[in-house]
Amino acid sequence: MTAQPGSTRDLSPDAGPGPAPVHRIESSARSLLAVRQLRLTDFRNYRQLRLDCGLEPVVLVGGNGTGKTNLLEALSFLAPGRGLRRARLDDVGHRTRGEAPGAGTGSTSWAVAATLDTPDGRLTIGTGLESGRSEGNLPRRVVRIDGKAASSQTALGLHVAAVWLTPQLDRLFLDGTTERRRFLDRLVTALHPQHAGDVAAYEHALRQRARVLAEGGRDPHWFTALEDTMARHGVALAAARADTVHRLDAAARLGIGPFPRAALAMAGEVDDWLDTMPALDAEDRLRATLAANRSRDAEAGTTSCGPHRSDLAVRHLDLDLPAAEGSTGQQKAVLVSIALAHARLVAMSRGRPPLLLLDEIAAHLDAERRTALFDEVVALGAQSWMTGTDAELFAPLRGRAQILCVADGSIATV
Ligand SMILES: Nc1ncnc2c1ncn2[C@@H]1O[C@H](COP(=O)(O)OP(=O)(O)OP(=O)(O)O)[C@@H](O)[C@H]1O
Ligand SMILES: [Mg+2]
Repeated sequence: MTAQPGSTRDLSPDAGPGPAPVHRIESSARSLLAVRQLRLTDFRNYRQLRLDCGLEPVVLVGGNGTGKTNLLEALSFLAPGRGLRRARLDDVGHRTRGEAPGAGTGSTSWAVAATLDTPDGRLTIGTGLESGRSEGNLPRRVVRIDGKAASSQTALGLHVAAVWLTPQLDRLFLDGTTERRRFLDRLVTALHPQHAGDVAAYEHALRQRARVLAEGGRDPHWFTALEDTMARHGVALAAARADTVHRLDAAARLGIGPFPRAALAMAGEVDDWLDTMPALDAEDRLRATLAANRSRDAEAGTTSCGPHRSDLAVRHLDLDLPAAEGSTGQQKAVLVSIALAHARLVAMSRGRPPLLLLDEIAAHLDAERRTALFDEVVALGAQSWMTGTDAELFAPLRGRAQILCVADGSIATV
C-alpha cells in the first residue's frame, strides 16, 4: 500500500489494529508556511519585540511567566478567530504590573505584525486593536493583509491556519462538547477557510434568535430570516466538518510512529441528516425543525436542534476504547496524533501546513514520543512553535530547530 495521507482511496475504513506504519509526506519541500519576522507592540508582557526567524521549527525556552504562551497567542492571531486564549481583545494590550484587566489605564491598543513565506510568496499580515475602533460596545480587531484592510478576519484563513495544543486541551476528551467543537472548527478552517465565516454567521443568528425568543418576540418574518441564515450556514458548516472528519479519520487511522491510531466521527442530528440526504434537503429540514421548535425552545431557553449541538467522537484504536478512557498521557498522545495527521492532510491538500503552536508539548510525552514528535515536525515542513521550561527536553532538536530563550518580554538566541 502506498501511503497517501489525506487520500481515502488507499484506506480500509475499518482496518483492524496492527503495527503503526510510519509514513512521511514527500511534499514538504513544496508545502510551506513560515513566519520570517514577527513584530509585537504592546502585546501582553511584550512592549516592543522584533523576532527574525528561519524556516525551521522554533523552540521557546524560559521560566514560568516569561512570555512563552503569550508569544504563541500572538501567532494565533495571524489566523481567524479569538486566539489561543479566547481573550477579550481589550485584555490583550500591555498592562503595567499590578493593573487588573479592564482597569483602563494600560494600553488597550496592541499590534501583531508578521512577514510570512507562503506558497504564494512573501506576505505581510498586521492585526490588532487600534484605540477608538469599536463596533457597538465591542472592540473590533483590525486586519491588514499586504497593507490593505481586510473586510473580515475570515480573509486571514485564505493564507494562514493555526492549530494549537495547550495544557488546557489535555482535558479535551473529558470536558464538555463546546471545547471539542472549537478544536474541531480550527481543524476544519485549515482545510475550508470559509468555515470560520460560516461558524460566525451561524452563531450570530443563533444568539439573535435565542434573544428574540427570550424577549417573547412574535414577528414570524424576523424568525424566518434568522432561521434561514441558521439553516444555510449551519448546513454549510456541518458539511465542512463532515468532509474534514472523514479525511482526518482516514489519516489518523494510520498512526504516526509511536503515536496511537485514532478514529474520528461526527455525532449529531444534522450530521446524521447529511449522511442520508443532499445538503439542500438538510437545509430545508433544519429550517422546518427550527420553525416548529420555536415555543419549545423559548420554554427551555435553549436551541434544541442544530450543529451547535454536534460533537466529535474520538476512539483510541490501539486500546480499542473511547479516547476519554485512556490515561492522561494516552489522551495527550491521541491529541498529538490527530494534530500531526491533520497537519499532513492540510500540507497535502492546500500546499501549506498549519502553524503548529505546541505549548508545553514535551511535558506529558515520554522520551520515545518526544523524539518521534520532533522528527515528524521537522519532516512536515511545518513551522511549529514549541515551548517548555526545560531546554534539555528539546535536546534531540539541536541543529534542526531555532532554540530561543525567553526572559520577561524579550527573546534571545541560545
Ligand atoms: N495584558 C498583559 N499585560 C502585561 N503582562 C501580561 C498581560 N497578560 C499577561 N501578562 C503576563 O505575562 C507574563 C507571561 O505570561 P505567559 O503565560 O506567556 O508565561 P509563560 O512563559 O507561558 O509561563 P508558564 O511557563 O508558567 O506557562 C505573566 O507574568 C502574565 O501575568
Ligand atoms: Mg505558558
